[in-house]
Amino acid sequence: GAPVEVDTSTLKPGQKMDISWRGQPVWVIRRSESAIERLAEVEDRLSDPASAVASQQPAYAQNAHRSLDPELLVLIPICTHLGCIPSYMPQPGSLDADWRGGFFCPCHGSKFDMAGRVYAGVPAPTNLQVPPHRIADNGVLVVG
Ligand code: FES
Repeated sequence: GAPVEVDTSTLKPGQKMDISWRGQPVWVIRRSESAIERLAEVEDRLSDPASAVASQQPAYAQNAHRSLDPELLVLIPICTHLGCIPSYMPQPGSLDADWRGGFFCPCHGSKFDMAGRVYAGVPAPTNLQVPPHRIADNGVLVVG
């Protein structure tokens, strides 16, 4: 599949764009400043906070925010357990009192943070996959 160009200039903090790359769904999300700050709050509750499983993201996304631009999350929203599409639930407290925002898989209850990092103690074995991406000179996001 060819790379897909995405104009993210109109994407507001918290908003999600749905695109498709190689027949798979890809979500592009502009994280708010507070969502980025909250990533540090959940690290001790995650299975792979440092994104050490190399298959799940390119090397340049092997960081706490799992992306090139800390604001822009680019994610394949397919649960790493059995492939359901998780729900995007960015608001703290929207799932339960402890919820700090992220992705919840309704099939068997896997939870991921706002970088797609999987919580410990859920069926999903790894973080959600981050596809290859780059920011072109004109500011356009290129996925693939
Ligand atoms: Fe997501 Fe099982 S498919 S938790």
